[in-house]
Amino acid sequence: MRRPLIVLVLAIAAIGVFAAGLAALLDTPRPPRGASRGERLFYALCVTCHGVDGRGSWRASLFLIRPGNLADAARLDQRSDQYLVDIIKNGGAPFGRPGMPAFGAALSEEEIRELVAYVRGLSRAR
Ligand code: HEC
Repeated sequence: MRRPLIVLVLAIAAIGVFAAGLAALLDTPRPPRGASRGERLFYALCVTCHGVDGRGSWRASLFLIRPGNLADAARLDQRSDQYLVDIIKNGGAPFGRPGMPAFGAALSEEEIRELVAYVRGLSRAR
């Protein structure tokens, strides 16, 4: 007799658990206090794919995106500053790395340069 009520309560609980899981999945980490502008931009725009440490986030692999490893010094040493500016501004498509989106419309030259400096830092200290 009470069955429909129990089913309803269970359904609502299941939706709650699902929504909480989704929220945890989609929430991105916050930058530390006193972070530089480059770091704040990196957390806001890049961490979803590249991960906080630049090694690639599991979220990206969930969507079959392979963002490479920005903390790999050997790899980053081969990249010129101009290349880093260009790939952030125009996206990866011109370089045969189509998974990397273009941020030229959203960021100023100066913001892009600060991001480049921050990305370079990922393969150094830490
Ligand atoms: C939608 C996911 C995604 C986002 C968001 C993203 N990237 Fe990328 N990024 C990629 C992928 C995929 C590649 C290509 C990796 C490859 O093919 O080696 C890439 C490549 C790069 C490269 C070149 C690495 C190399 O070795 O050539 C740099 C630098 C880079 N991203 C910086 C950034 C910065 C800075 C941001 C934030 C403004 C950002 N990315 C946001 C997915 C993303």
